[in-house]
Amino acid sequence: MNDLSFLLYRSETEMRPNSEAAGELLDSARRVNAEQALSGFLHHEDGFFFQWLEGPAAALDMVAGRMERDPRHHSLTYLWRGTQNDRQFGDWRMGYSTAAGSSILKWLAEHPVAQRERRAYAASVLAFLQERNVATEDQEAR
Ligand SMILES: Cc1cc2nc3c(=O)[nH]c(=O)nc-3n(C[C@H](O)[C@H](O)[C@H](O)COP(=O)(O)O)c2cc1C
Repeated sequence: MNDLSFLLYRSETEMRPNSEAAGELLDSARRVNAEQALSGFLHHEDGFFFQWLEGPAAALDMVAGRMERDPRHHSLTYLWRGTQNDRQFGDWRMGYSTAAGSSILKWLAEHPVAQRERRAYAASVLAFLQERNVATEDQEAR
């Protein structure tokens, strides 16, 4: 059985990108993720979060439960959940990007998928996060 699970969601937030509150959120998320062997990427733009998170199923479920109840965002919608053989973000960090680097809304407009093709939409979001992960790798203190 494959114990490596992943989730991808979109949520809505009033938190401002690169704010002190966003910094605090990232610090505590990174601490937990390091302890729980979770990896992923968070993009924060224009009132939205998009996040990929992956790791051992039990740890992922625990953190997902907390995130669903977290008042710092709302209207959390899972775009994709499942299991996989290999990590998509294997470099052991929780990267963070904002529209200052690249806009996901623009990306999605440039890579249109029909609204009912949910898997294709999720795959497009994942491709964006992977691209941002590579692009921000060198800039970030780890
Ligand atoms: C957009 C967003 C992303 C988050 N990402 C993570 C994460 O990757 N890992 C994590 O442990 N907590 C993450 N959190 C925080 C959790 O919701 C939660 O606050 C944290 O796990 C601590 O839980 P506790 O407040 O119950 O102690 C995130 C919260 C938000 C709003």
